[in-house]
This record gives sequence, C-alpha cells and structure tokens, in this order.
Amino acid sequence: MVEKEEDLRKTVVRYYDEKAEGEAAKTTQAPCCPDSEELGQLQTVQTVISFGCGLPVLSSDLRRGEVVLDLGSGTGPDVMAAAREVGPEGLVIGLDMSGRLMKRAYSSMHSLGLSNTAFIVAAMENIPVRDAALDVVISNCVINLSPDKARVFEEIRRTLKPEGRASISDVVTDSDLPTQVKENAEAWCACIGGTLKTGDYLRLIREAGFANVEMVSKDIFDDHAWGTDVKAFALTLNAHGIKRK
Ligand SMILES: C[S@@+](CC[C@H](N)C(=O)[O-])C[C@H]1O[C@@H](n2cnc3c(N)ncnc32)[C@H](O)[C@@H]1O
Repeated sequence: MVEKEEDLRKTVVRYYDEKAEGEAAKTTQAPCCPDSEELGQLQTVQTVISFGCGLPVLSSDLRRGEVVLDLGSGTGPDVMAAAREVGPEGLVIGLDMSGRLMKRAYSSMHSLGLSNTAFIVAAMENIPVRDAALDVVISNCVINLSPDKARVFEEIRRTLKPEGRASISDVVTDSDLPTQVKENAEAWCACIGGTLKTGDYLRLIREAGFANVEMVSKDIFDDHAWGTDVKAFALTLNAHGIKRK
C-alpha cells in the first residue's frame, strides 16, 4: 500500500481539488461576441470536462424515471448525459470526494437547467444511500483510485435494487505493475498505480454478489503504463443479477 488508506484518499482528493482550480476551471472566450446568455451556456459546458476513460451512460441503457448514482462524478459529464436520459421524472446523483469539483458540477447542472440532479460529497467506500434504493450505478475511471475496491463493489451491490444494474468504465492492466509504480502517489492519482489486472477486477465484482458481469469494450489506454512494459486498458462492463446476502 502506498500510504495508509486515509492518507492515500487525502492525496487523491487534493490532486482532484487542484484540477478544479486548473484544467477544469478554464473557460475560453467565444470567437466573436456572443450575447451574454449564449456565452453563459458555452462557459458552463466548458467547465464540464471529462476525466473519464469510457462511456458508461451509453452501455447502461438508461430509462425514463430511473434513479442513477454516478460514483466519482467529477465535473459532471456523465451526470449531465444520464440526466437527459432519465428525464425530469428520474434523478441522477453525483457522488465525489472532491468538494471543489462537486461545486463546479453543481453550478454547471444548475445553469443547464438540469433540475433532476443532486450531489453528495462523500467517499465511494461509504455511500450515504440506503440499501436497495438505486436502479443504476455508473462510474467512469474512478474505482481504480480506491485503496479498497472490494468495499466499493460491496457498496454498489448494497445500494442497488435487486433488479438493479451497474455500468462501469475503468482502467485495468494485463499484468502486475512493479511495486515502485504501485507505491508512487502520482501514478496512483493518474489512474495507473491503483489499477488491477482485468481478471482480478472482474473477480472482485463477482465476489461482491453480481451473477452476471459482461465486458462491453476493452481498448488500449496506455501501451507502456507509467513507462513500464505493462499494458493498461480502458474497460467498460455491465454487471447485474444481484445475489442478496
Ligand atoms: C479520473 S476522475 C473521473 C471523474 C469523472 N468520472 C469523469 O469521467 O470526468 C476521478 C474522480 O474520482 C474522485 N474520487 C477519487 N477517489 C474517490 C473516492 N474514494 N470516493 C469518491 N470519489 C473519489 C475524484 O475526486 C475525481 O473526481
């Protein structure tokens, strides 16, 4: 383990809080003098930046009226896409540990008029949602950042309805990373250091109580992860068939 779990989480949150002040905070002036309403929309959309590695909303087959949780929602790109799919009768909740990214996401959704969204600042290892409350959990390039992935998958199963489903995009590898990469905090924050091999990742989801885990896509993410010979992939999967414990 890089640092004690709590220290690691603090390092990750600092890293993403800084992103809220950096890349995600950038807005670009329109080429020529749009009216103020148009400029407001443009700036809002530019603050919704994806730090993801897949399109879990596309594979989740969302329906009108569903209640969806986006784990590690960042500036809100997947919350925004999901909110359009579930419509005003549905609800999309973004959860993130970074209060600064969350604030940014909240104000973007407000400006876009997406009133079917809500946000929670929390850790995905302790989701403050009651048992069996959700139709769908989505997550985009986040679970690799957790020092306790088994616990995260447990929490996903616990909060989903028995007929609920999860669509997850994340980074996985084809072989074990060297210890010095796993113990490098910067590599961890950049979604490499905490990655698991594909088989180990899928096994943890099954062990959490999902009977059906299907790979939707697996594309190369980095041929030489953190300068090593390990290949990293962007994996998208669907999980359903919840076994109650
Ligand atoms: C690579 S970014 C992806 C953000 C977003 N899903 C996207 O596609 O743009 C990872 C996000 O996970 C959040 N995060 C990392 N560890 C977390 C944890 N333990 N609980 C909740 N959020 C976490 C970070 O704050 C960050 O916003």
